Amino acid sequence: MRHLPDFPWDSLVPYRERASSFSASGEADAGGLVDLSVGTPVDPTPAVIREALVAAADAPGYPQTHGTADLREAVATWFHARRGVPDVDPDGVLPTIGSKELVAWLPTLLGIGEGDVVAFPRVAYPTYDVGARLAGATSFAADATTAFGPVTRASAPKLLWLNSPGNPTGKVLGIEHLAKVVDWARRYGVIVASDECYAELDWRDRSAREGVASTPSILDPRVTGGSHEGLLCVYSLSKQSNLAGYRAAFVAGDPRLVREILEVRRHAGMMMPWPVQRAMLAGLADVTHVDEQRARYAARRDLLRPAVEAFGLRVDDSDAGLYLWATAGEDCWSTIGRLADRGILAAPGAFYGSAGAEHVRIALTATDEHIAAAAHRLGGPEAAGGFPPLPVRG
Ligand SMILES: Cc1ncc(COP(=O)(O)O)c(C=O)c1O
Repeated sequence: MRHLPDFPWDSLVPYRERASSFSASGEADAGGLVDLSVGTPVDPTPAVIREALVAAADAPGYPQTHGTADLREAVATWFHARRGVPDVDPDGVLPTIGSKELVAWLPTLLGIGEGDVVAFPRVAYPTYDVGARLAGATSFAADATTAFGPVTRASAPKLLWLNSPGNPTGKVLGIEHLAKVVDWARRYGVIVASDECYAELDWRDRSAREGVASTPSILDPRVTGGSHEGLLCVYSLSKQSNLAGYRAAFVAGDPRLVREILEVRRHAGMMMPWPVQRAMLAGLADVTHVDEQRARYAARRDLLRPAVEAFGLRVDDSDAGLYLWATAGEDCWSTIGRLADRGILAAPGAFYGSAGAEHVRIALTATDEHIAAAAHRLGGPEAAGGFPPLPVRG
């Protein structure tokens, strides 16, 4: 029997009920729950992607597990244009059925197992730990390579997860940090997998390089010194393209590692459906919808952040991604309770590791109306003026 962690979301139910019974005092707010606890996109899937899906609806044959050559080329082109990575080998690209499954199965796919260590950030998306457990490996939470102490090739972790921009923290790792990690990892034969699905949603200025996101990739030549050996970048279109329901993602990097992963996935039938492959290709080729979606989230963030601060929380990191990582310097459940009393459900930082026990994660993935209502309830100075008020119920 495998030991998977408890699914913690059930413990939020009483707070959901408490928030749902919120009755608003002003005309502008219909009351009820504003759910900012999960990061699921709410805006429409762009037409250009939906049309590509429909056009590929006739799919009687099996799709290629490795994806078609044009899809892999499109990923390589995207890396060059949007991430400043000119040297992705299309053979080292593999579509995945969303990135969560890849995160959960990567250790197993790489043959990592009992006695091996899989490391991930101390405050992290829980699936890195799940993946280690599914493989029967040992989980180790670390934010710096020094946390491992003196290691040898035998005792070093087999796989090190990075997540930049981070969920839940919104922290972005810089070139220098990434380069140091890669240097250390290569010395000890550690595979580095970097989960970068929020890279297009970096709220700092875009990089000096035209069109390129400010969040550096693990595959950036300034990090890698020109070789992708031992490195994998995990990416998803769920967030940037409102595509979570399609399950459209990919992994790219070291062609040798990708071949190894591909081999198992072929046998296991882990293949991206053909219509989704075509939809992902269309999504990668279109920049406009990503820019529009980024602008939507930026407006929501501009409204919500000052309101969260006016409520008395300090926002830490949160330079990129879809969350405000906020603290009142108290146990996160107290903050969750106080937010519920304003009709707002957030995620307790404790869900992401004990180092998050005094933070809450507040998502930007809600409609303009709900974000405006949340800002109003929290008492943000500009709250009433930002978006149209929440329609009055009844
Ligand atoms: C850091 C991180 N990685 C991976 C995922 C999974 O994304 P998907 O499975 O939709 O590609 C998420 C989703 O929230 C995430 O936050």
